[in-house]
Amino acid sequence: MEFETAIIGAGAAGMMCAAHLEGRTLVVDHAKAAGEKIRISGGGRCNFTNLYTDAEAFISANPHFAKSALARYTQWDFIALVDAHKIAWHEKTLGQLFCDNSAKDIIAMLQSLMSTRGTDLRLNSTVRDVQKDGDHFTFTLQTPDKTHQVRAKNLVIATGGKSIPKMGATGWAYDIARQFGLPVTDIRPALVPFTFAEGRFAEISGVAVPSRVRADGPAFEEALLFTHRGLSGPAILQASSYWTEGATITVDIAPPDMYEALRTQRQDTGRRNFTTELSRHLPARLVDHLSGVFDLGGNLADWSDARLGALIDNLRQWELLPNGTEGYRTAEVTVGGVDTDALNARTMAAKNHPNLYFIGEAVDVTGWLGGYNFQWAWSSGMAAAQTM
Ligand code: FDA
Repeated sequence: MEFETAIIGAGAAGMMCAAHLEGRTLVVDHAKAAGEKIRISGGGRCNFTNLYTDAEAFISANPHFAKSALARYTQWDFIALVDAHKIAWHEKTLGQLFCDNSAKDIIAMLQSLMSTRGTDLRLNSTVRDVQKDGDHFTFTLQTPDKTHQVRAKNLVIATGGKSIPKMGATGWAYDIARQFGLPVTDIRPALVPFTFAEGRFAEISGVAVPSRVRADGPAFEEALLFTHRGLSGPAILQASSYWTEGATITVDIAPPDMYEALRTQRQDTGRRNFTTELSRHLPARLVDHLSGVFDLGGNLADWSDARLGALIDNLRQWELLPNGTEGYRTAEVTVGGVDTDALNARTMAAKNHPNLYFIGEAVDVTGWLGGYNFQWAWSSGMAAAQTM
C-alpha cells in the first residue's frame, strides 16, 4: 500500500493532523476505537482547550519550543472549529472549556473531517519494522485480517506518552525516536496524585480544602484532597508535574484572613478550646489531624500573637515528603519525551529526517491541567499538517 502520509496513533494529535491533510493518508492505531483519551477526558466532557493558553503553561527542557505551534494554531482557532461543528461548550473555571454534551462530539468532529478527506483509518492494527527506504518510510502493517507492506513519504508519530497503559499507552514513540537517532529526555508520570507512607492521611480521607501547593515550580492555588493513599485534587496534580522523587512539596492550607480572624475571636470567645475556634476556618477532621502534627493545645486566650503567627507560618509552609506517585497507572500525562532540540519547532519534523514528524504528548512538551494538553495536541498536529 502506498500513501503520502502514514500517521501512527489515532489520538488527539494524530486525528487533528489527519483531519487537515491533503493527499492519501493512513492512520493506524492498535486500540479498537480512535480517541479513547478524548472520550474519557474531563469526566466525559473533554476539557478541550484553555482560554489562557500560552507557552508559560507548558513544561519542556526548552520553554520556547512550543511557542511557534501554539501561536500559529491557537485556542481561538480550535474554538472556531468547534463552533463551526455546532458543538456547544462552556467555561467551567480558570479558562477551562468543556463540551456541554459529550467528549464524543469532539471525536465525531475529527472523524468526520477525516472521512471527508478520505483518510484510511485502521484500528486494532499494529506497525512493525519501520525503515527508511530512500526518501520514503516502509513498515509492516498488521490489520485484524491481513499483513500489508506500507510505503509512505511522510511518517508521523502520534502515539502519545506512557500514561495509562490500560488504555493502550506505550513508549513506542520513544523507541522510534531512538531508532532514527533522536534523543529522548527523562520521562516521568505527571498530573498524578502523591502517595505517602502507610495511612498518613487515611483518617481525613475525603476532606478537601482550598490550598496553594508548590513542588519545584510555580505554586498552584486550587483544591487539595486528602485520600486514603495520600494527596490528590487539582493543586496537587499540577504540582506533581514539577516533582521529582525524594523532594518535598510545600502546602499552604491557611485561609488568607485567618490570623486576623483568630485575633478577633480571641477577644470574643477566647475561653474556648483553640481547636474548636480553628475549626471555624478549617474542616474539623483536618483540625483533629493537625493536632497530631502541631501543638494546638489550650484555649484561644492562651495563644499570643507570636504563637498564632508561628502556627499560621507552619500552615502556610507545611513541608510534606511524598514517598511516590500513583505512577503511569493513573497519571494524566507524561512529562518529557522526544527531545525538542532534535525537532523543528515550526513543523515538528525531525531535523535529521525531514519527513519524520513527532506530535502531541510524545514530544517533550507537557501542559498544565486545564485543557492545555489537548491544545498542544491540536497545535502540534496542525503544525505538521500545514507543512506536509
Ligand atoms: P493520545 O494518547 O491521545 O493518543 C495516542 C494514540 O496512540 C492512542 O490512541 C493509542 O492507542 C495509540 N498508540 C499508542 N501506542 C501505539 C502503538 N505502539 N501502535 C499503535 N497505536 C498506538 N488533556 C486535556 O487537555 N484536557 C482534559 O480534559 C484531559 N483529561 C484527561 C483525562 C485522562 C484520564 C487522561 C489520561 C488524560 C487527560 N488529558 C487531558 C491529557 C490528554 O488526554 C493527552 O495529553 C492527549 O490525549 C495527548 O494526545 P496524543 O494524541 O499525543 O496522545
